Amino acid sequence: MTQTKTSQFQSQFRPRVLLTGAAGAVGSALRTGLAQDFDLILTDLRTPDDLREDETFRQADLQDPEQVRRAMQGAQAVIHLGGIPDEHTYGQIRAVNIDGTAHLLQAAHELGVRRVAFASSIHAVGYYPRHQKIGPDVPVRPDTFYGVSKVAGEALGRMYWERYGLEFVAVRICSFQPRPQDARHLSTWLSPRDAVQLFRRAIEAPDVGYLTVAGVSGNTRAWMTPEGWEVLGYGPQDNAETYAAELEGRHGDPASRTERYQGGVFTESDYTGLAGK
Ligand SMILES: NC(=O)c1ccc[n+]([C@@H]2O[C@H](COP(=O)([O-])OP(=O)(O)OC[C@H]3O[C@@H](n4cnc5c(N)ncnc54)[C@H](O)[C@@H]3O)[C@@H](O)[C@H]2O)c1
Repeated sequence: MTQTKTSQFQSQFRPRVLLTGAAGAVGSALRTGLAQDFDLILTDLRTPDDLREDETFRQADLQDPEQVRRAMQGAQAVIHLGGIPDEHTYGQIRAVNIDGTAHLLQAAHELGVRRVAFASSIHAVGYYPRHQKIGPDVPVRPDTFYGVSKVAGEALGRMYWERYGLEFVAVRICSFQPRPQDARHLSTWLSPRDAVQLFRRAIEAPDVGYLTVAGVSGNTRAWMTPEGWEVLGYGPQDNAETYAAELEGRHGDPASRTERYQGGVFTESDYTGLAGK
C-alpha cells in the first residue's frame, strides 16, 4: 500500500480539491482559508450567497450519484462536509448523510481521487462521559441517528481504503465556532483557523492511509486526545482556555445527560434536532 502518488501530488501540483458543503458554516471558513493553497471546486445543494466570479461552483445533491460524480470531475482530493449537521429523522439522515457519503466515495473511487477528508463528529462517540479522555480508537458510542451516520461514514471510508486504496481522514469535529460560547466548548471548541489548518493537513500530509483524529483546537480541557495529529503535522494555534474566566459558569444541571456526556444536549433521549422542526 505505497503512496508514491502522494509526494508527487504534494510537490508538483496545486491540488484540485472538491469541497462539499461549501455554502455551510465550516465550508465557508475553508473556502476562504484554503483558496490560496488549493484549486477549489465548490459544491453544495445551494449556491453560496457570496460566490465570486473567480470561484468554481457545481451545484449537486448528495442524494444523486450522477450529480455527485459530475461535481467531482477533475478533482484529485475531496473535503466532504456536505450533509445534515444535526439530528433528524432516520430516513433523512440515511438518505443525505449515509447514502450521500456512499455516493461520494464510490465516485471518488471510480474517478481515481487520491484522498477524502471527512467531517465526522464528536457525536460518533457522544455517550462517553466527560471525565474520560478518549482516543480515536475507542469503540463508537453514537448519541443520535446523526452520530450513527458519522460512524457509517467512517466505516465506509475504512472499506474504500482497505478495498481500493482510497486514502481517508476522518476529522471528528467537536464544536466549530468563531469563539467558544459555553463551558462545554472549553473542551470541544475548534476555531476557524485551526479548522483550516487541520483540513489543509488532512489533504496535504503524505502517506496517511486511513486515519481518525479529533477535530478540536489545542484546548487545555479537551476530552479527545491528540493522537494522529502528529501524522498530519497539525499543531493548533488556539486554546479555548483563553475564554475560561467568562465561560466556566455557563453550564446546566450537572446531573443532566447534557452535562454528563461529551455529546451534550444530543445525548438527551428527547432530543430530536431538526426532526421536530
Ligand atoms: N459545525 C460543527 O460544530 C460540526 C461539528 C461536528 C461535525 N460537523 C460536520 O461538519 C460538516 C459541516 O457542518 P456545518 O456546521 O458547516 O453545517 P452546515 O449546515 O452549515 O453546512 C452543511 C452544508 O451541507 C449542505 N447540504 C445539505 N444537504 C445536502 C445535500 N443533500 N446535497 C448537497 N449538500 C447538502 C447544506 O446546504 C449546507 O450548506 C457537516 O458534515 C457536519 O455534520 C460540524
